[in-house]
Amino acid sequence: MEYARDPSRHDVNDPVPNSRISLSVLRNWVSLSGLLVAAGGLFSFLLLLALDAFARNANPYVGILAYLIAPSFVALGLAMVVLGLFLERRDILSRREGKLLTFDLSRPRDRRRLVVFGVIGGVFLLVSAIGSYRSYHFTESVAFCGQACHTVMEPEYVTYLNSPHARVACSECHIGPGAEWYVKAKISGLHQVYATAFNTFSRPIETPIRNLRPAQETCEQCHWPKKFAGNMDLIFYHYLADSTNTPYTVRLLMKVGGGDPARGPVGGIHWHMNVANKVEYIATDEKRQVIPWVRVIDPQGVVTEYRTPSFKDDPSKHTIRRMDCMDCHNRPTHIYQSPNEAVDLSLALGRLDPRMPEIKKEAVKALLLPASTREEGLRKIAAALHERYRDDPRLEKTIAEVQAISRENFFPEMKASWKIYPNNIGHKNWPGCFRCHDGEHATSDGKRSIKANDCNACHVILAQGVGKQLENLSAKGHAFQHPGGETGDMKCSECHNGAGP
Ligand code: HEC
Ligand code: HEC
Ligand code: HEC
Ligand code: HEC
Ligand code: HEC
Ligand code: HEC
Repeated sequence: MEYARDPSRHDVNDPVPNSRISLSVLRNWVSLSGLLVAAGGLFSFLLLLALDAFARNANPYVGILAYLIAPSFVALGLAMVVLGLFLERRDILSRREGKLLTFDLSRPRDRRRLVVFGVIGGVFLLVSAIGSYRSYHFTESVAFCGQACHTVMEPEYVTYLNSPHARVACSECHIGPGAEWYVKAKISGLHQVYATAFNTFSRPIETPIRNLRPAQETCEQCHWPKKFAGNMDLIFYHYLADSTNTPYTVRLLMKVGGGDPARGPVGGIHWHMNVANKVEYIATDEKRQVIPWVRVIDPQGVVTEYRTPSFKDDPSKHTIRRMDCMDCHNRPTHIYQSPNEAVDLSLALGRLDPRMPEIKKEAVKALLLPASTREEGLRKIAAALHERYRDDPRLEKTIAEVQAISRENFFPEMKASWKIYPNNIGHKNWPGCFRCHDGEHATSDGKRSIKANDCNACHVILAQGVGKQLENLSAKGHAFQHPGGETGDMKCSECHNGAGP
């Protein structure tokens, strides 16, 4: 190591005039390391840009890595360079030249130092490359989407884990491939991080999600319309809210149908999704629960328009939406069970004992107690059930099960539950199919209406009731024996809301 200053330029005994100090980043460790950090940041930035450009899916969070984190390393590095120069200048001024560096490549010791520095630098660049590559993939992972912002995403993550899509990555449905969604995804990603950091996100998270990609690009990667075929045999177990929890089961043959004219008849429920048919509608509310206008364009281009008598507007003044999977399957994975459904399921599976008097009613009631935190909700459940079943040996097990239902379906901190996320499949608790199939939507000449209130249009009731009655199968379909008595012309969802009968 030599003296840093060139003795030929200054007289060692002279005070050094500021303007004549020549500083060099290569003469102090701090600046040198700063250079390395900045280079690493720049390198990561370029690498992320390239990764993103060639990626199949537009990743909404890569912007945070590429435009926030990588540049902060560049900035940090540059700051270190400046700091190093500052320290160097101070050392020169106070003549502590011994601290400064020079390299003389003719000397073995300096050559060794240079090699060590080079190796450390290389390893650092490699590590930052691997680091940015891994964080890039991490931002696409279920762990990142579901757990990074823990409270915000807890409802979606928990319901997802309990759903048929628990092994499909969040990004498969929410991000997906394609250039058009690229920018939207970026903006939404930055917005979400901002909202989480500054606690401005809405509780609950609003739906329908405006920038969810069209179903053709998400769901249809795995379930394509032509593949659909046949009927589905669905069984719904219920228990009445009476003293003996009277069971009632209904078994439906659901006419899901299919969509490929080359392989079989096209029809059934998935008729809507036959690529050749185009069903469009206008919803007059945010949640798309009120649909007064529907238009069908068939493969020959024949247009049929249906509207309810009260809807007199010019359709072009409204947003017209093309119907897709999400208009029926809007809860394919974030399935918030209603208290009624969840308790029925627990009773059917024996996790709650149907022989406990009034357990259906009491369990539903306990789940409905208002609470603003998870802890409060669980405490209230325990207290209410304890009050009712004080001396019952099944008390502990019952409390544990009802609390488990609460944990999986109720999220007080985010105000998320079945109540605020309508489920559009079916028609019992929400209008669902009856938003259009209610008999009120007719053509202007009144000649045709959308198939309605024909209980066999979408499914037939194979069997219903309890015990032996369930062995009495009907291919043509039984008439519905409603356990709640006569209903007249009322829609199911006018009485049923998941919280009571
Ligand atoms: C099978 C496809 C699918 C998967 C997988 C999926 N989602 Fe969703 N997600 C949806 C649909 C459909 C909606 C409802 C959109 C609507 O109603 O507008 C939704 C809604 C949401 C919402 C809005 C609030 C709500 O509860 O409706 C959030 C937040 C969300 N998803 C986050 C996630 C996270 C986090 C994951 C992974 C842990 C995930 N999603 C996995 C399809 C999916
Ligand atoms: C990455 C592949 C993938 C994507 C994308 C996907 N799904 Fe699925 N889906 C699956 C798998 C796997 C299953 C489980 C298969 C089974 O149970 O037979 C499934 C099951 C289903 C079921 C049957 C559920 C049940 O109760 O058995 C429905 C309905 C469904 N998906 C709808 C959708 C909708 C709507 C979307 C778009 C929002 C979607 N899926 C996106 C893979 C996917
Ligand atoms: C008009 C409403 C409607 C539309 C639109 C719709 N579905 Fe369905 N789908 C249903 C009903 C009803 C069932 C029967 C299952 C049920 O009731 O839960 C079903 C069943 C399914 C199943 C389960 C089939 C099986 O054999 O397990 C899948 C998967 C599915 N749909 C995917 C889709 C996809 C993907 C789209 C969009 C291309 C779509 N559906 C569009 C109403 C619809
Ligand atoms: C946005 C309005 C809308 C919604 C919501 C809707 N449908 Fe439809 N559906 C239609 C229209 C329009 C037709 C065609 C009526 C016609 O022209 O005869 C139709 C036809 C049908 C058909 C007859 C298909 C055939 O073979 O001709 C079935 C079955 C059906 N829908 C089931 C369902 C089910 C089940 C749901 C709920 C999961 C549902 N629909 C929700 C608008 C809707
Ligand atoms: C437009 C199609 C359509 C029509 C018309 C229709 N249903 Fe349904 N129904 C469905 C679908 C879809 C489901 C399945 C919901 C699900 O998967 O959760 C269902 C479910 C049911 C269930 C079981 C609900 C439960 O939770 O136990 C009953 C009972 C039922 N329907 C009775 C009727 C009766 C009675 C009528 C005539 C007034 C009728 N349906 C007309 C589509 C229809
Ligand atoms: C006038 C109000 C009313 C209407 C409309 C109505 N229900 Fe009910 N429903 C009841 C009552 C009350 C009970 C008995 C509840 C109990 O004791 O638990 C009941 C019980 C049921 C049950 C069994 C218990 C349960 O908790 O699920 C089913 C399934 C059911 N109804 C389906 C339907 C369907 C499907 C429709 C539409 C076709 C419908 N209901 C329309 C009031 C109604």
